[in-house]
Amino acid sequence: MKPALLLLPLILILCKLSPAQNSRTKWYDNAVIYEIYPRSFQDSNGDGIGDLNGITQRLDYLKNLGIDAIWITPFFPSPNADFGYDISDYESVAPEYGTMQDWDRLVSEARKRNIRILVDFVLNHTSDQHPWFKESRSSLTNPKRDWYIWRSGGGPTQPPTHWTSIFGGYTWTWDPKTEQWYYHIFLPQQPDVNWANRDLRKAMFDVVRFWLNHGASGFRLDATPYLFEDPAFPDDPHPPAKGGPAALMPYNSGRPENHQVLREMRKILDGYPGNPVLLGESSTATIQDLAKVYGEHHDEIQLPMDFLFGNLHKLDASEFKKQVDAAELQLDGQPPVLFFSSHDHERQWSVFGDGTHNDQIAKLTSALTLTERGCILLYYGEEIGMGTMSQSRLRDFPLGPKRPVADERDGERTPMQWNTGVNAGFTTGSPWLPVEADFPTYNVASEEAKPDSIYSWYAKLLKLRHDNPAFRDGSYVPLDSANPHVFAFARKSGDKLGLVILNTSPTEEAVTITGMRGVIEGVWPAFHLIQYAPSSSPLTQKLTIAPYGVLIGSTN
Ligand code: GLC
Ligand code: CA
Repeated sequence: MKPALLLLPLILILCKLSPAQNSRTKWYDNAVIYEIYPRSFQDSNGDGIGDLNGITQRLDYLKNLGIDAIWITPFFPSPNADFGYDISDYESVAPEYGTMQDWDRLVSEARKRNIRILVDFVLNHTSDQHPWFKESRSSLTNPKRDWYIWRSGGGPTQPPTHWTSIFGGYTWTWDPKTEQWYYHIFLPQQPDVNWANRDLRKAMFDVVRFWLNHGASGFRLDATPYLFEDPAFPDDPHPPAKGGPAALMPYNSGRPENHQVLREMRKILDGYPGNPVLLGESSTATIQDLAKVYGEHHDEIQLPMDFLFGNLHKLDASEFKKQVDAAELQLDGQPPVLFFSSHDHERQWSVFGDGTHNDQIAKLTSALTLTERGCILLYYGEEIGMGTMSQSRLRDFPLGPKRPVADERDGERTPMQWNTGVNAGFTTGSPWLPVEADFPTYNVASEEAKPDSIYSWYAKLLKLRHDNPAFRDGSYVPLDSANPHVFAFARKSGDKLGLVILNTSPTEEAVTITGMRGVIEGVWPAFHLIQYAPSSSPLTQKLTIAPYGVLIGSTN
């Protein structure tokens, strides 16, 4: 027998002990990525606007919290029609956020703390003030005319199609100078670029290289479903209600052409060291569509955000289980990307809170995401239980007059609450958005000092996720709780097991945990409780769990 064959039984045993996925694990597969809205995180120069130096000042805080990477929403020059999501220069820093030197310092300080940085790449559209668009609109024959999407329609009163933009109104704006319409899935100030044009594509890929060369560890890709439109531009006889949300439509989203662009972009990233990553804002209508965003050969977006999970608005164990099971079973083993809050989403504290048990519910929803397999996104301030500001329509006009107040996004973009001082420690000047009134209670300094605060709970869960092999890289094992209000699952890495039991109801609930084809029965005596809130109960197969209770166990 050849020596290699002699080793075969041993290799098989080792493979069994450490599931295949472990050997493939990349830093981002189980990373916690913290989203920073830079305008609201920390102001360093008293102008009331958060900035890059402010983030640098707070890196030790982020390090202590235990996150792996930060995603910073756009900090590039922009007329701010949509607060940075309308970019007029992709390769510099807007003066209100700092300079390229500030960026370089942020990267090198973050590196020292082992924190990676993802840049927000708005690749579907530019600002209408970007030099590319100014050239494009200057004449029908300008070399950059085709960098955007121009059509004649039926003249100034008749747009080429009756498609509705995400921010309301038609997706077309008439340009009187050249007498054509240009296409925009968002605001008229955000014209869509034409990814079919090779020169545009090359210019955009240069942007990718620019930030990778400047130390970015990847990108959060904005609005990825919308890169291409049906080239026939079919009219929609039943467009979404005027002013209502534009649905994901087969003619304007999820087009097959998207894949080629994303594959090319991924190839660029793969040529850089350190496994840079693409985190996609990739809403899809179904889990099958989400699976496709990873690419047929997993060669496109490594981390597409799971909006089917992120859009859940009911505190309902059965719904959570359904979405997590779907992500686990139907994404071909790829890491799910779970989140609840973002700069576009009402904060989870406000979505799920019942007004009485809000703090406990914040602990419950964070226990749900932070104990799951995959990449987890946190939104700044969620770790201290920041709520959504009740005053609205102060600054976020794009979603403005035509949309319901609930769709406006100032509420989730208020300044970070650092301490009980003036403006919660965010700025010495006048903050660009008011600080939420609850800051004397919900702020970093006060919560760091309290072992049972929301902050302390997050920090403990993040530590668990780093230190405990089952919660770090274990696979997900569905369990049955025999109670629709209780979501139970295990995490398994080799012979190490983790156990999570979550009660989403306001009443105490009785459960009997079964699953793992009976294996769990034999394991019970080995489990010990490692985290719980609000009260503990012995970890037995039949148990009762407190209202909105969380029990986390482990075999090691
Ligand atoms: C994404 C961003 C959102 C922005 C939109 C247009 O959805 O998250 O904030 O308004 O793209 O760029
Ligand atoms: Ca500032």
